[in-house]
Amino acid sequence: MSASLENRGQFGSKLGFILSAAGSAVGLGNIWKFPGKAYNNGGGSFLVIYILMVALIGTTVMLAEFTLGRKTQKNAVGALRELNAKYSWVGGLGILTGFIILCYYCQVGGWTIKYIIAYLTESSTVYADPTGYFLNMLGVNGFPLQGAIIYPLIFLCLTSFIISRGVAEGIEKLSKFLMPLLFILLLGLMIRACTLPGAGEGVAYMFHFDPSTITRDSFLVALGQAFFSLSLGMGVMITYASYLSKDDNLITNTGVVCVLDTCVALFAGFMIIPAVFATGIDPGMGGGFAFATLAGVFKSIPGGTIFGLLFYALLFFAAITSSISILEGTVAFLVEEKGMERKKTVVLVSIVLFVIGIFYTLSQAYLPIKGIWWSVNGIEFPIFGDFMEYLTDRLLLPFGAFFTTVFVGWIWGTDNAIKEATSDGKYKFGLAPLWAFLVKFAAPAGILCIIVAGLLLGMSIS
Ligand code: PHE
Repeated sequence: MSASLENRGQFGSKLGFILSAAGSAVGLGNIWKFPGKAYNNGGGSFLVIYILMVALIGTTVMLAEFTLGRKTQKNAVGALRELNAKYSWVGGLGILTGFIILCYYCQVGGWTIKYIIAYLTESSTVYADPTGYFLNMLGVNGFPLQGAIIYPLIFLCLTSFIISRGVAEGIEKLSKFLMPLLFILLLGLMIRACTLPGAGEGVAYMFHFDPSTITRDSFLVALGQAFFSLSLGMGVMITYASYLSKDDNLITNTGVVCVLDTCVALFAGFMIIPAVFATGIDPGMGGGFAFATLAGVFKSIPGGTIFGLLFYALLFFAAITSSISILEGTVAFLVEEKGMERKKTVVLVSIVLFVIGIFYTLSQAYLPIKGIWWSVNGIEFPIFGDFMEYLTDRLLLPFGAFFTTVFVGWIWGTDNAIKEATSDGKYKFGLAPLWAFLVKFAAPAGILCIIVAGLLLGMSIS
């Protein structure tokens, strides 16, 4: 029996859990990654595929993770160990994935703080050369002390502080406060963007469904994005659900969290793409999108600096409620499985991930640190930062989700899982047969295709 089961936390209310799980799901993925992917993969067509992926595979995996966590009341490793000790490594894989993601997540989270301050104090400097400002933060002109060290450290300290306070006092309190604020901010910014002169074209692009723009890549990108965005494949949702009581309805919780997360991604798309069209700025790709590109937008709209400030506040709120969920996954594992003390664990884990994370930012412009990737195109040496994202989004997250579905579908068994999902028959689950089919066959098969294709195609798609 693990050392600290008796003082395990619990969510204090149903709403608290939903907002915390939604807080985990809604993050940089929705606002920093999603709009760029939607733009590059055909706008409306991508939205349709993305929604399909969330509805069919995302919800399936999320409910599977929820049942594992609530059934066992344990962290990801402990949960799988309890149900079948041979598979505890699946939980371990998830924790490792989360840890790698958190290394770079805290860096980008730090950038959001840097930009909040920049918009408060020196917006004209940002506007004078948005790309230059962004690259300077990354270290083109010398060691990026602010971008790699100071601001990520502030972000990480905030994350650790909340985690060290525990589930109800830390995670739940913060999420209950920040998530409603995030929705209001997002709605306000979306309305502002869609009513800019010239925004109509961007809105039309996001609604335009042209099947000929759907490619194999759209599916690959959409599924990887769905896992990342829903916080799946790394045991975070197992851990969160382990703090739930038996009378919570896992089925409706799954629906609500998936719908909220997808709405935020769509709203972010409808905020950013119309604004970009209205101002005629090339959205570019990747990490610079939310930082460098958008400065051009804020510069050219009335009251832009205030909207810019609100936008980075939004990004920061989204990021911190996600980073705490990942850190919680790792910390719960070390505390419960290794018998470590909670506060000490938080500090130790934070130090290690901070040091690794520094190289994410350094590799962007300051140091030529590379990763390695093999594909049909031969061996590639992507920059280390991209490599971290590829490794997690393309390989580790889908692997985690794949083994989760195989475990629930074939090892633990869908009957047991459905029993847990319905709280022993207390709640209705009309779609149970469909879910069982998805967990056993469709989801693992679909995910496997993604993993293989992602490996073979290399880093050419994003
Ligand atoms: N879902 C979060 C986002 O969209 C990221 C995340 C991934 C959080 C995995 C927790 C676990 O940004």
